[in-house]
Order: sequence, then C-alpha cells, then structure tokens
Amino acid sequence: MAGEKRPLVEFRFGHRRILARGEDTVAAALHRAGIRVLSRSVKYHRPRGYFCGTGRCTGCLMTVDGEPNVRTCQRSVEPGLQVEGQNAWPTVGLDLFGVLDRLFRRGMDYHHLLARPQALQPLLHRTVRRLSGLGKLPSTSSELPPARRMRKQVVVVGAGPGGVRAAQAAAEAGAAVLLIEADEQIGGHLLRLHPEFDCGSGREVLGELAEQSSESPGLELLLGATAFGSYASEGLAVVHRGELTLVEADRWIFAPGTGEEAIPFPNGDLPGILQEAAVRALVVRHKVRPGREAFLIGPLKRLQPLARLLESAGTEIVGTLVVEDLAPGRTESGEAPEQGGLSGFRLVGALGGRTVRAVVCEKDRERRRIPCDLVAICGAPHPQLDLFLQAGAEVQPSEGSMGEKPQVDQTFQTTVPGLYAVGEAAGCQGIEAVLLSGSCAGTAAAASLRPPSSDLVDLVQRAAMAYEQAAAKRRSPRA
Ligand SMILES: Cc1cc2nc3c(=O)[nH]c(=O)nc-3n(C[C@H](O)[C@H](O)[C@H](O)COP(=O)(O)OP(=O)(O)OC[C@H]3O[C@@H](n4cnc5c(N)ncnc54)[C@H](O)[C@@H]3O)c2cc1C
Ligand code: FES
Repeated sequence: MAGEKRPLVEFRFGHRRILARGEDTVAAALHRAGIRVLSRSVKYHRPRGYFCGTGRCTGCLMTVDGEPNVRTCQRSVEPGLQVEGQNAWPTVGLDLFGVLDRLFRRGMDYHHLLARPQALQPLLHRTVRRLSGLGKLPSTSSELPPARRMRKQVVVVGAGPGGVRAAQAAAEAGAAVLLIEADEQIGGHLLRLHPEFDCGSGREVLGELAEQSSESPGLELLLGATAFGSYASEGLAVVHRGELTLVEADRWIFAPGTGEEAIPFPNGDLPGILQEAAVRALVVRHKVRPGREAFLIGPLKRLQPLARLLESAGTEIVGTLVVEDLAPGRTESGEAPEQGGLSGFRLVGALGGRTVRAVVCEKDRERRRIPCDLVAICGAPHPQLDLFLQAGAEVQPSEGSMGEKPQVDQTFQTTVPGLYAVGEAAGCQGIEAVLLSGSCAGTAAAASLRPPSSDLVDLVQRAAMAYEQAAAKRRSPRA
C-alpha cells in the first residue's frame, strides 16, 4: 500500500552492485545510481532509457534473471536480481553496433542494401537474423506452466481512483469483484501527485480508497497484473508475475486511465528525455532526482507544478517552452510569462550522444542551444483505448484535445453489452467526475446481474445524476 517502507535491497546490473530502496522499481534504482542507458534500439542500436514510467513504451526493456523484455519501470527490485541491458555488445553503455546509427544516418534502404554480389546473400541473411529480434530467449528452456483460470461476477481493470471506486461500488452492491492492477500499488496517477505542489483533492482520496478497499469483503485485488488481451469469447488475458491468467466475468469495467501523446522531434528518443508521468514517478514515488538541469515543454498549468516539484528535488529549471496544446507537429510556444521561458520559439530538436545534452529552439533566424541533462515533456493526454477496441467497443471524439474515448450511455456502459468504461479513459475530467463515474458503473454492473431492485436502480440513477452535475460544473465553473 502507499507509503509502506521496505528494507534496502541489493541487486546486480551486469557486474555492478546496485543498492536500492525496497519500494523502488529496477529502472528507478538504476536512475538513482546514475545509469540512464538501459537498452538499445533493435535496428540502429540507439540508446534507450526511462521514458514513460507507466509501462507503455519500450524504453526500459531489460533482461531480468534471464527473462528478456521486462519493463523495468514496472518491475519491483528484489534481493539478488541479475539485470542486464539488451540489444548491445559488449554493453549498453558502450555498444559497438551503435556505429550503425552513424553509418545509416538516412535510414536503411532494404531494396538495395548489399543486394550484390548475390553470393554474399546467405551470409547477409544469417547476420541479419542474428542481429534482429528484441532481446534473446534464455538458452535453457523450461516448461511453461499451464494458464491459471479465474472467474468473478465483475472484473475491473485499473486501480486508479475510477477503477477502485467502481470495484468498491460493485462489491457494496453484492457482486464478487476482482480488481486487476498493473502496478504494485493501487492509486493510479494519484501516486504521482505531490501533496504540496499539486492542487485538488486527488492525493487526499488516495488514503481513503486504499482503506476502504482493504475493508471490502467481496473485493479481491490482483496487483502486478497487466491485462493485455480482451477476447470476447475467452475473456481477458492477464500476465501476473510472469504467468498467464485467463479471467472470465459476467461484467467488465475498464478503467485504464490516459497516456501522454509522444511528440516526435529529432533526437527525441535520447535517454534523459522523459514524459511528465515518468518525471513525477521518479521524484514523488522513488525520491530520485531525474536530472541536474531541466528543460520543460508543455502547457503552463502543467509546467508550473512540475517545475516546483523538480526544484524541490534539487533540479534547476534552465528553460521552458510553453505550448498549450502539445501534440505531434505543435511545438511552437505562445506567450511565456515565466522567467527563463521562450516566447514564440519552436523546438528544433535535442542534442546528445548516449544521453541528452541540450535542446535547440529557434525563432525567425535566431537559434538557441540550451544545455540540459533532462527534458520533461507534457504531451496531451489521451484515453487508453486498446482493451476497449479489442473488445469491439465503439469510440467517439472526446472534449478538448483528449483524442477519442469509448462511446458510453448514462451508466457508462459501452456499445458492447456488459462492458463499462470508467474514469479518464471514459473522458471524465477531474477527480470528482472520475470517482462518480466509478460509483455509477460499479453499481450498474452489479445491479444488472440481479433481478431489478428499486434500491439499486435508484442508486444508479442518483450516481448518474451526480456525475452529470459534476461534469456540468466543470464545463461552466460559474454554474
Ligand atoms: C498530469 C496530470 C496531473 C494531474 N494533477 C492533478 C492534481 O493536481 N490534483 C488532482 O486532484 N488530480 C489531478 N489529476 C487527475 C487525477 O490524477 C486523475 O483524474 C485520476 O488519477 C484518473 O483516474 P483513473 O482511475 O481514470 O486513471 P489513473 O489514475 O490513470 O489509473 C489507471 C490505472 O490503470 C492501470 N492500468 C492501465 N492499463 C492497465 C492494464 N492493461 N492492466 C492493468 N492495469 C492497468 C494503471 O496502472 C493505473 O494504475 C492529474 C492528472 C494528470 C494526468
Ligand atoms: S515502459 Fe518503462 S519507461 Fe516506458
């Protein structure tokens, strides 16, 4: 649970011994030890590092105890773990194949590359086969255990505030509920908010949610479990501590939250360039200073608390590019009222070798090179749709710049009968609306399992009405 303190843990990265806090993830512990290059890209062997901090990219894939492609920003440290970088020789820090990135600056042309002489083709194919692939399977194969099977009346995916509240509501309405969460703690994005620098009631509800969940008798919690496949006939495929679990249910509630839009720009993949959630995870959860000198890009209302958070961790803010609607192709700053802000500049790219060393911005003919070892990017949030789309749910544009969201009715049921969408993934904005969407969907899902009862129908209607009022208040604060 949040705030729990565990003893220090020692593990190995190659031959190096790393001392970690017990509640660290592997990637956070390596970051604290100054190790920022975690793996290399498959083709050009470009350095890769901590990027999203939420298990949604491939920046932190490493080999852990012989298992390749482990997302180390999600893997908790354990004593004696053996961690290795991957796709590199001899090491991720000094990868001789990194020369490919320099040789093929304009990309590889597969149609003509070494097409002649023909006699060399078999050798070329063998080499390419050896070099390709993501990570290496262990040389010793072990029997895969059969998939575990679980069945519950209501299954909720995602234990952010929306999912937790939905699970509690369904359990209170009498259903047997399973709550699946990829993280080792419940709380979702609330775990990355700072009590001092972030406003709103998010942090306060975190403790309440954790307490209520542990007291809810019909509610089972599966932590460290990621749902990766939603199959209409078979149910949900979940990987839990390296093992496959197939979950069946009568009703589904998905509450996976939002992800941040990745912004493409030259060298935007260098280690040291992080999304906001990753910066927050390092500072708030892991007490790691993400860098010495930071350059921040994004909307002002997100940059201000982020800047205060970083300064509290000992990071100096060397520049900001205020872009209100940061999305691919939109990296030009508007007004920059803050000190150190760049007004009217656009981001040209980043510079660096193994890690970021500077950003370059330009305005008319003026070019500025701003040295930094951390670039924090606050991309526009967008609902996580993968599970909904796999299940066949229809989507529609959401308000503002949040992309698309699942189409839902008054009780948050999607176009797939028995599947509900909750929280930010359903387009709800603000903690109050997120919690109310959870109450509404959880009660409705449980109520639909039983013969209609006036009490439950009344409860669902009241929750739906409260949600509508909260959403209307948010749209027009003076109402
Ligand atoms: C940048 C930012 C700043 C914010 N600042 C504030 C603030 O200052 N004050 C405030 O009150 N609120 C703030 N909020 C709002 C608040 O954090 C969110 O409204 C709330 O966390 C959304 O809840 P949720 O349950 O919809 O999603 P989340 O909190 O994002 O939770 C989603 C959960 O689902 C899990 N998950 C996702 N996919 C899977 C899967 N496939 N399998 C298993 N688990 C999965 C994730 O691990 C996560 O735990 C902020 C939000 C953002 C994005
Ligand atoms: S998945 Fe770990 S940093 Fe993105």
